[in-house]
Amino acid sequence: MKFQAASSIAAVLAALALPAHADSYKLPRNVILEEECGSCHMVFPPQMLHADSWRAMMGDLARHFGSDASLDEQRRIAITDFLVAHSGGRKTGATRDARGKPLLRISETERFIKKHREISAATWQRASIKSPANCGACHTRAAAGDYDDDTIRIPK
Ligand code: HEC
Ligand code: HEC
Repeated sequence: MKFQAASSIAAVLAALALPAHADSYKLPRNVILEEECGSCHMVFPPQMLHADSWRAMMGDLARHFGSDASLDEQRRIAITDFLVAHSGGRKTGATRDARGKPLLRISETERFIKKHREISAATWQRASIKSPANCGACHTRAAAGDYDDDTIRIPK
């Protein structure tokens, strides 16, 4: 019996040790999201922000990073529900700023910073990249929710 318990624990540990690239950022089709949140930039992966961050962002769309992204109430609620349902929960690491407000940028979350720590400040500033929010500059299949290592190409 002891042996059996040990081997099932080993199986659980093996499952937990799956490599990070097994994470999926694919989404079910959502036309409202694509229309409203994919017009100025690509649709960012909701898995990379905490639900509290999505709620905060969706509650203040008139002041969205210097742009007015406001929506009618029905669409706003539908998109909020979808983003929250696919949000990253605790997996995103620290998700609040020093004053306790939810972070609104994926690129400021602990998880993003950890995953991108090898990229230098000079690389981020290249004309071909411009901003960490420009995911598709390096993740060539970002639009399809594919962030696998073998699809990354950092432009000169
Ligand atoms: C300057 C190029 C660049 C930009 C822009 C960029 N990334 Fe990355 N990203 C990378 C590199 C390089 C890695 C690290 C791959 C590794 O460690 O093997 C990475 C890793 C990742 C990973 C982890 C993949 C894995 O398998 O663990 C995710 C998820 C990710 N990026 C999402 C994003 C998102 C979302 C954005 C936009 C908000 C973004 N990235 C912007 C270059 C970039
Ligand atoms: C009117 C244009 C516009 C619309 C519509 C819009 N956005 Fe944005 N969004 C922006 C701009 C501008 C930025 C800042 C980009 C930068 O810093 O490079 C931004 C940034 C973001 C970021 C932060 C990316 C990061 O990690 O730095 C998220 C997340 C985001 N938008 C989500 C959304 C969602 C969700 C919707 C739909 C409800 C939406 N956006 C609709 C203009 C828009």
